[in-house]
Amino acid sequence: MNEADAANRLMRLAKAIARHNRLYHDQDAPAISDADYDALVRENAALEADFPHLVRANSPSRGVGATPSSSLAKVPHARPMLSLENAFAPEEVAEFVARVRRFLSLAPDADVALTAEPKIDGLSCSLRFVQGELVFAATRGDGQIGEDVTANVRTIPDIPQSLAGAPAVLEVRGEVYMAKVDFAALNERQLVCGGKIFANPRNAAAGSLRQKDPGVTAARPLRFLAHGWGEVSEPVADTQSQAMARLAALGFPVSALLIRVGTLDDALAHYAAIEHARADLPFDIDGVVYKVDRLDWQDRLGQVARAPRWGLAHKFPAERAETTLEAIDIQVGRTGKLTPVGRLIPVGVGGVIVANVTLHNRDEIVRLGLRIGDRVRIQRAGDVIPQVVENLTRDDLRAPYAFPDHCPECGSEAVGEEGEVDVRCTGGLICPAQRIERLKHFVSRGAMDIDGLGEKSIVEFAGYGWLDSPADIFRLKKHRDELVGREGWQAKSVDNLLAAIDARIGFDPARFLFGLGIRHVGAVTAKDLMRAFGTIEALQAAAIGDDAQAELSAVEGVGPVVAEALTDFFHEPHNRDALADLLGLARPAAFVSTARTTEWTGKTIVFTGTLERMSRDEAKAQAERLGARTAGSVSAKTDLVVAGPGAGSKLKKAAELGVHVIDEAAWEAIVAAS
Ligand code: IVH
Repeated sequence: MNEADAANRLMRLAKAIARHNRLYHDQDAPAISDADYDALVRENAALEADFPHLVRANSPSRGVGATPSSSLAKVPHARPMLSLENAFAPEEVAEFVARVRRFLSLAPDADVALTAEPKIDGLSCSLRFVQGELVFAATRGDGQIGEDVTANVRTIPDIPQSLAGAPAVLEVRGEVYMAKVDFAALNERQLVCGGKIFANPRNAAAGSLRQKDPGVTAARPLRFLAHGWGEVSEPVADTQSQAMARLAALGFPVSALLIRVGTLDDALAHYAAIEHARADLPFDIDGVVYKVDRLDWQDRLGQVARAPRWGLAHKFPAERAETTLEAIDIQVGRTGKLTPVGRLIPVGVGGVIVANVTLHNRDEIVRLGLRIGDRVRIQRAGDVIPQVVENLTRDDLRAPYAFPDHCPECGSEAVGEEGEVDVRCTGGLICPAQRIERLKHFVSRGAMDIDGLGEKSIVEFAGYGWLDSPADIFRLKKHRDELVGREGWQAKSVDNLLAAIDARIGFDPARFLFGLGIRHVGAVTAKDLMRAFGTIEALQAAAIGDDAQAELSAVEGVGPVVAEALTDFFHEPHNRDALADLLGLARPAAFVSTARTTEWTGKTIVFTGTLERMSRDEAKAQAERLGARTAGSVSAKTDLVVAGPGAGSKLKKAAELGVHVIDEAAWEAIVAAS
């Protein structure tokens, strides 16, 4: 690689790593696997070793530039700020509309009007107006808790400070962004004054908004486009399109490209029109957002995990290029997954030099017939890690690539589970790759968030033989005196670390559960599980019980895959031992629910038979919103059965057990009254 390429690549890496740091640490929303993240860090370190004079002031290896301002005050959102599910193909948009119809029990050809508007590449912001006055502004953060940027937002000319004729409480949500020309001019000014150079308008907008000093924000040309709302004291309108018109009338900029479409074809036509206009738009966009127009339907549709069922982001297609696959490296992830990474002759794709691609798994290599030396077509979509879409050298002349059957880190056997595409190291906690990753994950921000226990210390303590499993973290105090005086450790820093660890005794059980690194159990699922079960012990009891699949799958947001991962985890005696050890030391608190409390909170409801006015999913979501749990089968623990026509054995069982049974209309009345 020549010097110019290296400099370019280092700039891109700094940008990518900073972004992933932010996604992971500030927003709890990592976009890539830990292994892929590590690959970026390693590539950065290797390039810096080859070109020491190119080490950037904001190099990720110097640990700066990752978080512009984590010192902004954290504030909870009155209503969570959601993200959107992504789609790339028109068929996925069609499926979205079909899903909406199914959920609402509409006819398969029923009209579902949508709004369609550009997806702005900025950062979302919530603006709270009380009695028409702007009182508060916050970034999205992790969706539940954002950062207070009130003073900064007051400097943005697009944003009105007071409104006439607005509801008493109105939270307007939208995108803070920087126009392309303003971004270029800002970077030129930064170059002259030796300031930070931003990688793209989105970073510049984020860096400018998330400032401690509003004076800095005021000097940056930020803009705003409204795309929705949060808490409101009275309904804004009957439809999304009317609501957006109302926001515009109140003085908020709303996209001129927002339209209401009556059919899927019209939605796709508008997508094509926006894509056509993309290059000429004054700001960056990365797709089109569709939203169900009727707000009563939006309410019924509700949300799954972090995204509403009524919205979809239709992203623009990825950019592609051709190059040669030079090597295949195998990385071992936190959960033991062996991920093949393709090393490429670096090639430019849409302005970024790509040197690595994820090859996903063994099957993907087989599917593409990949061997080292093959010519490949790669693509990158937005910030997603680049991938191979086509092998241009498919032939039978050379032997296929042999996927390793042993872990490259610890030499344990690597196996593909029945029906699974992934090959995993069976070394569990003895595998160094997994041990460190497991510990890192356990202490990470989204999990136990132990201040001062970073990767470096984990590696150091593991090296002394003090850290094998997460429970050992709570035993580190035994080594206090030994640690004091070692390089980099004074009594004060050791005591601070031990205090940070002790502060996590009795911590949030959802974050504890997430920290265990159980496959498929992310932060949101962990919360759902703790909301349903209250304690890790109760979850364990359910997961090893006879009815485990049914009981776990009854939790909103938990499907059969998560249920299986949980039963797998809790059935493994080794895991139960390690967990019991850890629970004994860390003693997580009982879960404090943020769901609404109603007379149904904590009750178990079973839906059976055909529901005629709503789908089963909608009924379950309604129950969840009342704080209730839903189950798939009737037992002595069932508090209520909602039965439609055709309910059979469950109705009989309910009668036997004396469980109260109601029909769909009575259920609707409960929902309406609660
Ligand atoms: S709707 C629950 N509309 O995209 C609804 N979002 O990928 C979520 N975004 O967090 C917001 N343009 O920051 C919506 N026209 C638009 C948008 C938009 C950009 C961002 C927003 C959101 C993210 C989701």
